[in-house]
Amino acid sequence: MTTVRLMASAPASHDADALVVGVHSGPQGLRPAPGAESVDEALGGKLVEALRSVAFTGKTGEVAKIPTFGALSTPLVLAVGLGDADGTVEDLRRAAGAAARALAGTARAAFALPATTREQVEAIALGALLGAYTFDRYRTNGELKPPVGEIAVLTEAEAPLERTVVVAESVNLVRDLVNTPPSDLWPAKLAELAAERGAQAGLEVEVLDETALKENGYGGIVAVGQGSINPPRLVRLAYRHPEATKTLAFVGKGITFDSGGLSLKPSSAMDWMKADMGGAGAVLGSLLGIAGLGLKVNVVGYLCLAENMPSGTAQRPSDVYTSYSGKTVEVLDTDAEGRLVLVDGIARAGEDEPDLIVDVATLTGAQIIALGWRTAGVMANDDAFRTRVVEIAERAGEPSWPMPLPAELRKGLDSSVADIANLPSERWGSMLVAGIFLKEFVPDGVTWAHIDIAGPSFNKTDPYGYTPKGGTGAATRTLIGLAEEYAG
Ligand code: BES
Ligand code: MN
Ligand code: ZN
Repeated sequence: MTTVRLMASAPASHDADALVVGVHSGPQGLRPAPGAESVDEALGGKLVEALRSVAFTGKTGEVAKIPTFGALSTPLVLAVGLGDADGTVEDLRRAAGAAARALAGTARAAFALPATTREQVEAIALGALLGAYTFDRYRTNGELKPPVGEIAVLTEAEAPLERTVVVAESVNLVRDLVNTPPSDLWPAKLAELAAERGAQAGLEVEVLDETALKENGYGGIVAVGQGSINPPRLVRLAYRHPEATKTLAFVGKGITFDSGGLSLKPSSAMDWMKADMGGAGAVLGSLLGIAGLGLKVNVVGYLCLAENMPSGTAQRPSDVYTSYSGKTVEVLDTDAEGRLVLVDGIARAGEDEPDLIVDVATLTGAQIIALGWRTAGVMANDDAFRTRVVEIAERAGEPSWPMPLPAELRKGLDSSVADIANLPSERWGSMLVAGIFLKEFVPDGVTWAHIDIAGPSFNKTDPYGYTPKGGTGAATRTLIGLAEEYAG
């Protein structure tokens, strides 16, 4: 486990196994960033020369290791690129994350990055804690280096790190859940874990099992879950603050594995569908984080959990069921299952009389086609709220972009037998059509936003900044940020 603390010591004489410094690129060449000057001095002014000789260019997130041969108290300097100008706090988070990743296997590291403001200190600490993340639960060969142990952020500034630690723990928990294989994480198991962690954090917990779901009319969750030997669950977690004036509801898609059901996915699209519970993960992680921070707001979280499998009991394309809202749905494609479980959660959330509902879901491949792997799509029934969500996400370091819900796309969901079909007649604008489907189930008069994190929830390629390969914990920080925004 990685720990982080603040220390006011001078970088060149601080005792550790490695010292991290920032270096800017630019038209005049490499420039040591604030924090690195005294290190450069101790190295006889040769920091830039040494970095040039290992072809370091200073671009954001690039790292290079330089031995210090006794010139400093640390045997190693790790330079991390900070780009050409004074970057954003997100640049700093990413640089710290890249440094923490490069320091895997190091016991004690000191970070001498630009840290004069509280914001900068928090960015370094959060980036480092998120970058240090590893998932080694299934490794037996000891080849994976342990994460960097103790991190000292060198700064004169004062900054409480409680929030940073809570946020990092929330995000890293979500990453663990997403990375856990579906052989070890099915709906009841995730529900149990959520109930346990929720109770520990002082949340009110309610778990509906398959019998309760059937009896109470959660037709979508039941329909999606009926093909699996692992039955579905709906988890409700409630955080309350006595001085709260606002109530928020978060709803997460929690498909612990999405095979597509009878509308089976091709195998190339299936091997990472353990990540299809990333939305529910983010809702759980954020609720635990919000409780840990003691925010003055009420937040109710719903985890809509099912395993989408083909079998003799699975739902069939052309089945019709009645959703929790009372509306009937024709299932034309069992692989469009996320919207079916989500709308039961969204309709139920209305009973909490929330000021707003935000759902988070790995909902459509079309999100990835439209916006790529790293940028979430945000849709809403209120333009001002949509803007607000995008801004909060941006501040949290989770890129997203506002997307419309064009009214003319609704007719594509017309069913010949039921109130609505789950598959549009055309594939164009599929991310938006999914949003339009959800919107139809939002309780009257409630402000609602939908965040499609199909791409951002899982990093299939190399790590970058503080983002590891695999589960990323996407949207967790946005949800915590939202709760902070509405806290009194
Ligand atoms: N879980 C998938 C969406 C997804 C795709 C998430 C790729 C992450 C990466 C979702 O359940 C799904 O299968 N959606 C279909 C909907 C379609 C059948 C209307 C899709 O996007 O292809
Ligand atoms: Mn699917
Ligand atoms: Zn899915």
